[in-house]
Amino acid sequence: MFRKSGYLLVALILPVTIYASGNNTADVLPQQVKQCDRCHSENSTVRSIAPSLDGMSEPYLVEQLENFRQARRGADSADPYTLEMSQQAKALDEEQVARLADYYAGRKRLPSTGTVPGNVGHGEQLYKEKCGGCHSSLFGRFFTRSPRITHLKASYILAELSEFATGERRVKHDSKHKLKMVAVAKQLNDVDRADIVAYIKAAPTH
Ligand code: HEC
Ligand code: HEC
Repeated sequence: MFRKSGYLLVALILPVTIYASGNNTADVLPQQVKQCDRCHSENSTVRSIAPSLDGMSEPYLVEQLENFRQARRGADSADPYTLEMSQQAKALDEEQVARLADYYAGRKRLPSTGTVPGNVGHGEQLYKEKCGGCHSSLFGRFFTRSPRITHLKASYILAELSEFATGERRVKHDSKHKLKMVAVAKQLNDVDRADIVAYIKAAPTH
């Protein structure tokens, strides 16, 4: 008799708790998105390099938020927005990270059109030799798990290439492709970086 009513009690309580926790998380998502979009939306009035997150792949978004949480990114930055980014990532729990990644991955990617001055011809040569294999084709991106980069803001691509080179942006050490990304960034100087970005922005379909 006791066991029977015990089961009944569990059966009655469980759906209520599941419903309640699902409901709470759903309620905070729009608030969090608003907070993130203060810097990340296309219409942001904050003058930072923060890129649009729309249409980034879900595993990539989760991993980058994890990189901020583990201080592989952002920890020793001189940029106040990047420091705030680190704090925001650290305040999220795993479920919130998963929901935010799902939300942004489901949005339409918006290519950014701004550019930087640079020698497009030299940039093309460097890009084809050093970057295209991993970043350009669907095939290359799939096998090296590389993100799309051509839609990103010019100022953001420039900054990230420097950060990889100086070690301010570190990667999770679980793939040789990520280490290669860092190694390639170290081969570039300021002029090379600007030329590559000028090329990417002149030919955004590559
Ligand atoms: C104060 C401005 C600011 C706020 C608010 C902010 N971010 Fe960021 N975020 C940045 C900046 C700046 C960077 C680039 C940092 C760097 O690498 O130098 C960034 C980078 C990122 C990246 C990495 C993008 C990539 O292409 O690798 C992700 C993912 C991200 N933010 C997610 C979020 C989420 C989710 C929130 C809300 C919980 C958020 N951010 C709130 C400024 C902000
Ligand atoms: C061996 C493959 C490989 C090569 C070659 C490579 N990358 Fe990457 N790249 C990656 C991977 C993997 C990542 C994600 C690293 C991480 O986990 O943070 C990345 C990240 C990036 C990012 C950051 C994207 C973001 O949203 O923050 C930029 C920008 C970038 N690469 C540009 C370049 C450029 C420009 C070149 C050529 C000079 C290049 N990459 C060469 C694999 C590669």
